[in-house]
Amino acid sequence: AERRKLAAGNWKMNGTAADMAEIETLAQERSDATCEVLVCPPATLLERLARACEGGPVVVGGQDCHAEEKGAHTGDVSAAMLKDAGASYVILGHSERRQDHGETNEIVRAKTKAAWDAGLTAVICVGETLSEREASNTLDLISGQLAGSIPDKANGHNLVVAYEPVWAIGTGKVPTTDQIGEVHSMIRAKLEKRFGEGVGRSVRILYGGSVKPDNAAEIFAVSHVDGALVGGASLKAKDFGGIIAAL
Ligand code: G3H
Repeated sequence: AERRKLAAGNWKMNGTAADMAEIETLAQERSDATCEVLVCPPATLLERLARACEGGPVVVGGQDCHAEEKGAHTGDVSAAMLKDAGASYVILGHSERRQDHGETNEIVRAKTKAAWDAGLTAVICVGETLSEREASNTLDLISGQLAGSIPDKANGHNLVVAYEPVWAIGTGKVPTTDQIGEVHSMIRAKLEKRFGEGVGRSVRILYGGSVKPDNAAEIFAVSHVDGALVGGASLKAKDFGGIIAAL
């Protein structure tokens, strides 16, 4: 089956109500988009953004969730809460969560199960640091992240994988198309081996790390790149729109 392209914006810890106009502009301009457009704002804006985008081409998602459904976890948000606020996706295991909050593959796996229980699609992030790449550990490291972070019963509806080399995030440095292709092909092969060919082929694999309007087309031409997870450039309707147009 044909995989529907996905342009996902991760606002990270950026955005207040004043920034909502950007996404409304984008939603209006992209009303004819054939790809799927996902915006993941901070949790404080989720419900407001979901309401603003209702019925339109843009869907919304969270940037993280807790592994438990509810309870005494001050400051945390559950998958059910994201769903309740209007989310249909959640980003899990972003390298900033892995680094800043010590999230292990096991934790990401538990969070993914919680996301699935709540009916959310998980965008599971994997990727190597510069020192891991320089030590030629990239493929092994990512294989381990995939095996450890993705629960059984993954399919093309509940899972998206995002390959984000840590050294490319917010740096303006982008891997060569050969480097991206090598990792994406490996991810596809691992998914097919573990979940069967049909399922493995249906899961979308995004590239993330310094995607901009002027490098998007080249990246999207790489095989097994089904879209992008965009940080900085997703904050401006003009830039994110340019990336969407290249898909
Ligand atoms: O989740 C998004 C990525 O971390 C990429 O961020 O586009 O600012 O490099 P960036």
